[in-house]
Amino acid sequence: MSGIGIAVVGVKGMGKGHIEAIKKVPGLELRGVCDVVEAEAKAAGEAYKVAAYTDHVKMLEADEKIRAVAIATPHWFHPKIAIDCAKRKVHVLTEKPMSVTVGDADKMIAAHKKAKTVLAVVYQHRFAPMNALAHKMIREGQLGRIHRVLLIETCCRSNAYYASGAWRATWRGEGGGVLLNQAPHALDMLQWITGLMPKEIYALNETAMHKIEVEDRASALLRYAGGAVGYLHVSTTETPNQGRIEIFGDKGLLVIEGDGLRFAKLDQPMAEFIAKTDKVWGRPQHEWTDLTPTLVKPEKTGHEAVFADFAEAIANKRPPLVTGPDGRNSVELANAMILSSQTGKPVKLPVARAAYERLIKKLVAKSKKRA
Ligand SMILES: NC(=O)c1ccc[n+]([C@@H]2O[C@H](COP(=O)([O-])OP(=O)(O)OC[C@H]3O[C@@H](n4cnc5c(N)ncnc54)[C@H](O)[C@@H]3O)[C@@H](O)[C@H]2O)c1
Repeated sequence: MSGIGIAVVGVKGMGKGHIEAIKKVPGLELRGVCDVVEAEAKAAGEAYKVAAYTDHVKMLEADEKIRAVAIATPHWFHPKIAIDCAKRKVHVLTEKPMSVTVGDADKMIAAHKKAKTVLAVVYQHRFAPMNALAHKMIREGQLGRIHRVLLIETCCRSNAYYASGAWRATWRGEGGGVLLNQAPHALDMLQWITGLMPKEIYALNETAMHKIEVEDRASALLRYAGGAVGYLHVSTTETPNQGRIEIFGDKGLLVIEGDGLRFAKLDQPMAEFIAKTDKVWGRPQHEWTDLTPTLVKPEKTGHEAVFADFAEAIANKRPPLVTGPDGRNSVELANAMILSSQTGKPVKLPVARAAYERLIKKLVAKSKKRA
């Protein structure tokens, strides 16, 4: 039996990666490609010997064997394409971020809930063994109650990179900067591994080093309902790239850095020690364990793992690893930071949908078109 018929919408950059991943998943069969730029659609159609389209709705109407669509267009187009698919009972795997605004993410989730179709979001780092183990350790209670989190995710992008696509780094074309493009993976990791979303965010976003209208550097203070605090910094203005998450819980400190995972286990819970010790200069003893050597390389990683999970979710009628509501959390964090920085005030989560729509409309109206 051939696999589930799938088409890719947006085939210039990431879309090609989608096609390559689909070819490796036996449960999927590539049936079509679509791109508003006819030359891109044609080239991909010829290269992969499938029908090529320039309009996703016409594509769905032309081939009823397309039961799933993977979206790799610029972010603003994800919601409309995903909702058009839901209306035709077509399952969707959308690239990150699933939308520019949380309000649009709500609409995508509602449309697929109504259609009873799978809506999945590409967050391939969830399949990386160190992230999966960190997620599991927290679920198992190995850290106890979380007191503090830290996220640093930095990389380097040049003005030439931003100029490589007219949509990039503009409010009109992208709806944000590092928070909407490079940081969503890290934001997703932070919320997925901890299982926590802050109740309030105070952010400072800046355009520090690039000739762009959106943020290339964003910092924030986070407050959580259970009393935990967090600090976050993401940017496209540094090298060497840094990827670091620290989670300090009552029972120890977990550090994810690069491809490594380390845990400092305390011999006594922090809160208990502080309350009960009579030692003036005492502290709980700790032992570091480098968990990196214990990580087992999974059979599939990256987009191949994401597409395999998507295919199984459809075939077995089970949720994908990253559902619509899961995918929305990183958009919620990014929107909260943009709203906070633009207003200069702390923002409560969930983000007020109407306030964010008003803000982004204003920013888009002022947005300059790239040459
Ligand atoms: N998961 C990851 O690690 C990862 C990596 C890179 C990009 N992405 C995401 O993939 C998406 C695309 O990024 P990219 O770098 O491939 O962009 P890109 O500019 O290289 O390609 C986007 C393509 O979409 C086409 N397109 C635009 N609107 C369309 C529409 N309405 N219908 C059909 N085609 C349309 C464009 O013509 C273009 O060919 C973004 O949302 C980005 O965040 C994810």
